[in-house]
Amino acid sequence: MSTWGGSVTAQTTVDRPFFSQLLRERSWGFHQRAESAGFMQALMDGEIDRAGYALMVAQHLAIYEALETVERELYTSDVAKPFLTDKLHRVPSLRADLAALVGPERVRTLPLLPATLRYTVRIREMSGWAGGFVAHHYTRYLGDLSGGLAIGKVVARVYGLTDAGVSFYRFDQIEKPKPFKDEYRAHLDAAPWEPDEQERVIAEVLNAYQLNTDVFTDLAEAVGLGGGR
Ligand code: HEM
Repeated sequence: MSTWGGSVTAQTTVDRPFFSQLLRERSWGFHQRAESAGFMQALMDGEIDRAGYALMVAQHLAIYEALETVERELYTSDVAKPFLTDKLHRVPSLRADLAALVGPERVRTLPLLPATLRYTVRIREMSGWAGGFVAHHYTRYLGDLSGGLAIGKVVARVYGLTDAGVSFYRFDQIEKPKPFKDEYRAHLDAAPWEPDEQERVIAEVLNAYQLNTDVFTDLAEAVGLGGGR
């Protein structure tokens, strides 16, 4: 029996999963779509050349700049605060990776794709809604600490990189991802969200997954992968 959101009496128990569990269950279908995007599969199969990989890193840089800018704006928010830690920050590693891949002078010259721009606009809109910001924070960072770690190993092998170029996938300050993710999920469970706000947060996570899938679609098109996605 789960005691979601507080006290439960024997007579009136309505079994509801913890919010972190609910969120995962409700969004997993969207996760699978993002995971199986053509660009992602081609990347894992070693079919994307180095320039295509660099283009993806440039999209990530714009996305994390938006996330980490909004994070600074929400630093005093009681809702967002439990989730925030410098240990997760990815902008410095993405800048370094991109500089290593294309040269420091070209870091700002790679194009941002339309889906990336839509994604960053949406993230910036979250500066007025901490729950929505957490939705985007969760979708990226918990993913980076999950499948992202495995993706990093494949990418490092495919491009023959050991550090510079793939440091995004390495969290130096998080020794053990599992306890970190458990704590993160405990913060999700403790967030002061009524059921209607929980629904809004779940909907924003689905939106975040969709935006990620859209970025993969644009990337596929940009690198000339057959069929777009
Ligand atoms: C090839 C691509 C991908 C693979 C192989 C993959 C794999 C995985 C795996 C195995 C887990 C479960 C880890 C666990 O139970 O602790 C996971 C979790 C997760 N992934 Fe992915 N993933 C991929 C792409 C993505 C993308 C594109 C996103 C979103 C941007 C994402 C976001 C997440 C999130 C948020 C979780 C945590 C779910 C939760 O436990 O609440 N993943 N991924």
